[in-house]
Amino acid sequence: MKTQALQVELADRSYPIHFESPREVLARQIGHLRDAGHGLAAIVDQGLLEAQPTLLADLGLQPEECLALPAGEPTKATEPFSRSLSFLADRALNRDSVLFALGGGVIGDLAGFVAASYLRGISFHQVPTTLLAMVDSSVGGKTGINLPEGKNLVGAFWQPEAVYIDTTILQTLPAREFAAGMAEVIKYGLLADAELFNELERLDTLHSGSPELAQMIRRCCAIKARVVAEDEKETAASGGRALLNLGHTFAHAIENVAGYGDYLHGEAVAIGLHLAAILSVELGHIKAREISRISDLLQRYELPVRLKQNLPVEDLMEAMRRDKKNRSGQLRFVTLQKIGQAVTSDGIDPTQITRIWEEASAKA
Ligand code: GLY
Repeated sequence: MKTQALQVELADRSYPIHFESPREVLARQIGHLRDAGHGLAAIVDQGLLEAQPTLLADLGLQPEECLALPAGEPTKATEPFSRSLSFLADRALNRDSVLFALGGGVIGDLAGFVAASYLRGISFHQVPTTLLAMVDSSVGGKTGINLPEGKNLVGAFWQPEAVYIDTTILQTLPAREFAAGMAEVIKYGLLADAELFNELERLDTLHSGSPELAQMIRRCCAIKARVVAEDEKETAASGGRALLNLGHTFAHAIENVAGYGDYLHGEAVAIGLHLAAILSVELGHIKAREISRISDLLQRYELPVRLKQNLPVEDLMEAMRRDKKNRSGQLRFVTLQKIGQAVTSDGIDPTQITRIWEEASAKA
């Protein structure tokens, strides 16, 4: 079946997400850029290079053009950021140069921010190689790094030139990473596509070779492309792009307090989705039985729905106060109106959130 590229519609910064023969399209693109005299560089997941040693050659990239970095969350930090900038400067790349991000969410976010910053901005292409990056982080132009004070506190909106999604690359993805990506797939069902959520419930547990996977990824990308086209910089007074952060206010606090790398981002999101469902029930939006539908589906992928170990609630609350979604000093959450529809909820009483954290911790 021919799968057309999806377009992210952003006027003169619109770009395609390639699903059809993405590896060939990318190799051709690299060849064209090289022939036209553009300097090339890539920031690459080190683990991916070990798992797929012919990948760079297949794409026509030279080893000296590539900076390999570990995929874990500690790579989204100031030292790897400055090392990456120096890598580009040492290679004397100029404003015509093009950077490729080959990896998961961490590599994509870092490389995107490097592209946004180097010489005040150069072109970059996203080549997501994890499920999480394919369905979420490679699309939409959010780039950045973490600070010890909080997740994604430094960054830029910087759209890629194109995204290339090749599901065959997932064959060497560790099972834990695949499951973490499924948390984001489930998130898309919850926030915008009840039929996707129902289908995930009906289907056997998906894996990297599941025939349904490519269509699921495309569906998530279609939702993301639509939401980003409507609210690129997350400035909508309510709803908008912030809805893509369902579960993320809790998740970012967990990652910050547990220490980056203890939980995979998708694992923290899984807990966050569960806690967002509890909050949605408390606000009277959804029925209590929906919580177990959500947690059952997450647990089917062996994702956590509670904290692995107790974390200080005051620290979690403090991390939430630094969340970028907050407005006028008030906590803002994304909650569910029903499965398949999310809304932003402002002015949530902090004591309610404290209690939810206490519940999440006590059962750990
Ligand atoms: N991952 C949420 C967003 O891109 O807005």
